[in-house]
Amino acid sequence: MASRLKMWMMMKTRGISVHHNIPNSTVTCDLKTQGLPVTPGSCPHSLSALPGPTNWPLLGSLVDILRKGGLKRQHQALAGYHKQFGKIFRMKLGSFDSVHIGAPCLLEALFREESNYPKRLEIKPWKAYRDYRDEAYGLLILEGKDWQRVRSAFQQKLMKPSEVGKLDTKINEVMEDFIRRLDSVCTEDGNITDLYCELNKWSLESISLVLYEKRFGFLQPNLGEEALNFITAIKTMMSTFGLMMVTPVELHKSFNTKIWKSHTQAWDSIFRTAKCHIDRRLMKLSCKDDEDFLCTIYKDSKLSKKEMYATITEMLIGAVETTANSLLWAIFNISRHPTIQKKLHEEIQSVLSPDQVPTAEDIKNMPYLKACLKESMRYKSLYFFN
Ligand code: HEM
Repeated sequence: MASRLKMWMMMKTRGISVHHNIPNSTVTCDLKTQGLPVTPGSCPHSLSALPGPTNWPLLGSLVDILRKGGLKRQHQALAGYHKQFGKIFRMKLGSFDSVHIGAPCLLEALFREESNYPKRLEIKPWKAYRDYRDEAYGLLILEGKDWQRVRSAFQQKLMKPSEVGKLDTKINEVMEDFIRRLDSVCTEDGNITDLYCELNKWSLESISLVLYEKRFGFLQPNLGEEALNFITAIKTMMSTFGLMMVTPVELHKSFNTKIWKSHTQAWDSIFRTAKCHIDRRLMKLSCKDDEDFLCTIYKDSKLSKKEMYATITEMLIGAVETTANSLLWAIFNISRHPTIQKKLHEEIQSVLSPDQVPTAEDIKNMPYLKACLKESMRYKSLYFFN
């Protein structure tokens, strides 16, 4: 998400598009060879010179995208535009303007241009809710110095591999339930009707345990009321923000549209759950529990409670679909390559004895596993709007 917006901002604020000869870099990225139009006498790489699909007033390319199968098939539409327009193209979806780049050297150029702070995609519906309810912004929507302040508070405890490794017992606890769950939903001929849905439940259960210290029971055959409300709220929030990204959210708010009401109610429910479990966890502060990473962050960082609620909520939202999608994609890729699957199996068997539960330390001895996951994510980005 961020790179698309950053590219757009660079172009807008500096009146240029892409630095194709990158100083101090071995990569030379020539826009001509990237298929960009170079018109004599005009600024060759201005935003308006970028090629792209139909750009109708108000609608932009929405109709074209709908004709190509709608938002669910937009990856295919984007792949088609990439073929048609080259490595950089511009697309507008209603009020939402974006520049898409599809070349490693251009991505490198973009990242080299970045300042100390990310300029990111503005998720207006999320910001509108926070402003409406006077809640804080979390890491996914913060920018500038505030982003850096909150990011550095979480950096040490949640972004360092050595710290993440300490969560292995919790991750394994949920993984055991997940495997049992897969056994129970797997048919005799080895089919699982909706593996993606199961993976989403697994990732939501795992991240909830890490952040809220709470087992919701998403992997149980019958969901309890709290689990059901929470999962419904997340689904509703995610399914309602897309439309408000391409149509002005201010209008939805002014007219109190159905979509705005559903979005707001969903966030209310998500924040209610977050506050309840984060408050409970932070009560441990009185026990001076230095082992609890959330307590340590709160105690050491001087972040307000509101900032804790918003950041932890966004972490939860950021962790669920991303992890489920990436794992599904990795499983799919490994399943298509039996030799790779065999090699991976051999590596795992060489590190673990039968029935041994893997720890974070064991994973360090599985470089091929790491390579498979990285290659799967490199091969095709699942997050084409990033
Ligand atoms: C394979 C799994 C994952 C993928 C592919 C992924 C992808 C991404 C991407 C592309 C961004 C940049 C978004 C932007 O700023 O525009 C991002 C940011 C972020 N992700 Fe993930 N993510 C994954 C797992 C997770 C998990 C497990 C968590 C939470 C524990 C998480 C929390 C976050 C947060 C908080 C940010 C904002 C970071 C910042 O700006 O400082 N992500 N992720």
